[in-house]
Amino acid sequence: MAAPTPARHSAPHDDSKDQAARLWWQDAVFYQIYVRSFADADGDGLGDMAGIASRLPYLAGLGIDALWLTPFYPSPQADHGYDVADYRDVDPRFGTLADFDAMLARAHELGIRVIIDVVPNHSSDEHPWFQAALAAGPGSPERARYVFRDGRGENGEEPPNNWQSVFGGPAWTRVSDGQWYLHIFDRKQPDFDWENPEIGDEFESILRFWLDRGVDGFRIDVAHGMFKAPGLPDVELTQEGGGIEEALSQHDRPYWDQPGVHDVYRRWHKVLASYPGDRMAVAEAWVEGAEAMARYVRSDELQQAFNFHWLESEWSAEEFRRVVEETFAAVEPVGATPTWVLSNHDVDRHVTRFGEGAVGLARGRAASAMMLALPGSAYIYAGEELGLPQVEVPEEHRQDPTWFRGGGVGRDGCRVPLPWSGDAPPFGFGPEGSKPWLPQPGEWAELSVEEQQGVEGSTLELYRTMLRIRRDLLPELGTAVEFLTAPSGLVALRRGRLVCVVNCGDADADVSTLVDPEALLVATGEDKQVREGTLPPDTAAWYDAA
Ligand code: GLC
Repeated sequence: MAAPTPARHSAPHDDSKDQAARLWWQDAVFYQIYVRSFADADGDGLGDMAGIASRLPYLAGLGIDALWLTPFYPSPQADHGYDVADYRDVDPRFGTLADFDAMLARAHELGIRVIIDVVPNHSSDEHPWFQAALAAGPGSPERARYVFRDGRGENGEEPPNNWQSVFGGPAWTRVSDGQWYLHIFDRKQPDFDWENPEIGDEFESILRFWLDRGVDGFRIDVAHGMFKAPGLPDVELTQEGGGIEEALSQHDRPYWDQPGVHDVYRRWHKVLASYPGDRMAVAEAWVEGAEAMARYVRSDELQQAFNFHWLESEWSAEEFRRVVEETFAAVEPVGATPTWVLSNHDVDRHVTRFGEGAVGLARGRAASAMMLALPGSAYIYAGEELGLPQVEVPEEHRQDPTWFRGGGVGRDGCRVPLPWSGDAPPFGFGPEGSKPWLPQPGEWAELSVEEQQGVEGSTLELYRTMLRIRRDLLPELGTAVEFLTAPSGLVALRRGRLVCVVNCGDADADVSTLVDPEALLVATGEDKQVREGTLPPDTAAWYDAA
């Protein structure tokens, strides 16, 4: 075994003996369900609560610990639910509150926790508060819940500043009495004015509504948004069209990462702590560098923040190692748990990001193996366990507002409904004869759950195996990571008795000096060669170093 390099990285409560003291979310594998794309029980083409409930046994069998559900609230669906018209109900397209309660109870019976999306930066323009703001007119308390301003120019015909929407186009829309309102996203998503205390009170009450129903926590949408710099100063406009990911992470923007958000999260921390069961929240905060991310997870703020630096990593051993080291360096001082994510409903699926066809799939599986070997909590996106690639959605079927507002290539391609069974659409996503809201590629017949279940080497069985090993070994894994000195192109790490080696290079690598090949636990590619001590390119393997 090669000598470990001196660097040792660890998450808080760093002691494997301490495992029993760790909170459920600190090691949890979360499974993200994009509600409209998961399972459609009533055949209207959209996934729903009853669909989720019917697939809970599958999820329990997969071995995940918790679910994150994207917004299912009543909404005009201008941004597929991220435009909320009523924060305390379920959209009839997705079911009823009773269906939600039934799904939650069943999940809990199966030992699966459930967190839900909360969208505090903006509401729908069809939310009663925004409708009241329009009706009440300039200067009214109703208007003060949103960001209304007079325009510039002689007759106020120019927007109040030059801010651009994340989805493309101006961030302001003019209403009939001449004022303008701010929408950092779609024109149907007006931003709340968080300087107004009414907004904070309302959101505390919304959190309590769902905590009282038994949810285990929240994913906070655009958690680095909400507050705007005083005076709403103009920005220096840069080249546009980089897509939502880039727009969300333009770090110098006066509407991102303002200090006021941290007061909100201190308040939410107390709300969560006032409930039993270690409730938690995870921030979607596209901020600059791991250190800025760590500010959201200080001990009196949120429990987690998505680690988008990991998602943004290239296929490179050096970069994987660098991101892991930077992540630990950032979260350690604030005593927080690291998180890892490779795919979600806003970005191209990672198997496609890492390359075309078989190469992308092989790399995607290997990157997932490294992610699942790391201490902390991992977020997997529905369909990732099937190795689903990004889909080229035909223009006539496009639905994402970013596509229409010119803000990028659109996110429909990672939101295509899942293939469960059968050899033709809807592939068991909905009842026979139903039409999924986005067309599924015919070749997905080969990727369905039914096709992969029980098939050795399938992506589904690989995930299931990795999740089982992770769970079984957890008490002996601890929270510290050591990087092993590995040949160039390889990254090798040890966590307790688990060693993970990834070959990001382009040649077969002899790993027999690094690990005992006979102690192989799982390989993401053909395991015969791996058992003989050779790790092929685009492959990862886990070994038992007990
Ligand atoms: C977040 C969501 C994204 C949504 C946006 C506006 O980035 O993940 O899907 O469009 O917020 O709510």
